[in-house]
Amino acid sequence: DQSLFDSPALMLPSTIAIDGPAASGKSTLGELLAQRLGYLYFDTGVMYRAVTWAALERGIAISDEAAVTYLAENIQIDFLPPTVSDGRQFTVLIDGEDTTWDLRRPEVDKNVSPVSAYAGVRAAMTPQQRRIAERGRVIMAGRDIGTVVLPDADLKIYLDATVDERARRRLLERAAQGRHLSFEEMKQEIERRDQIDSTREVAPLKRGTDAVYLDNTGLSIDATVKRALEIMQARAQSLSGLTNG
Ligand code: CDP
Ligand code: CDP
Repeated sequence: DQSLFDSPALMLPSTIAIDGPAASGKSTLGELLAQRLGYLYFDTGVMYRAVTWAALERGIAISDEAAVTYLAENIQIDFLPPTVSDGRQFTVLIDGEDTTWDLRRPEVDKNVSPVSAYAGVRAAMTPQQRRIAERGRVIMAGRDIGTVVLPDADLKIYLDATVDERARRRLLERAAQGRHLSFEEMKQEIERRDQIDSTREVAPLKRGTDAVYLDNTGLSIDATVKRALEIMQARAQSLSGLTNG
């Protein structure tokens, strides 16, 4: 892939959208690609997780749409480079408080999809995400990045893997954090979240026709990054007018 950087004639995609279901590998791929390219990686799922965590913390009922929406409109979510070296990709502050690991708690996994289905919650988050992408050289991951947040992204990837593979991956990840669930529990949790995310009315998860489909079931992380760099190179050639399409 070195040629990607060597050819000054190539116009690299500046805004890259990665969408896909839970645990398909978006953060892993996004982070590694961003390191390679010197881009910013931004995980929009964290914003919905932050609203969910804040609602749970403050005893707001998840079913109370007005209260959850008010919260989304009024909390301050800040993203910083890691402030503690404990394996985190970044630090998240909610109203100044470090909640980075709290956002991965099972209560958040369980409640985040209903929260993110609220139109008012999305209306509060989408403009913040667009602002982050404005400067370009950004890789943004989520569910609706290529379809709604950044419809003009230079490159859109829809990252997928079978639900069994995704459940297995997330199980290993949670086990490393000291949380032990059964495979069946994890699979059900993921299927439930995917179901809500893809059937909601506002900005559902879907595979856009202009996104490159990348199924990384059975692919190592390295192999997935390699595939994505090939996709980027092809896109760079078409952006530079070197090929059609
Ligand atoms: O990492 P994982 O795939 O488990 O989830 P995430 O990317 O952190 O997203 C958590 C939840 O936030 C998703 O299940 C969606 O309900 C919601 N989300 C969304 O609605 N739109 C986005 N752009 C990103 C996440
Ligand atoms: O961001 P998203 O929820 O889509 O997934 P992730 O957090 O990047 O990946 C979920 C887990 O799968 C992580 O523990 C990754 O290390 C692992 N993974 C993998 O085993 N093989 C891949 N090709 C990609 C991710």
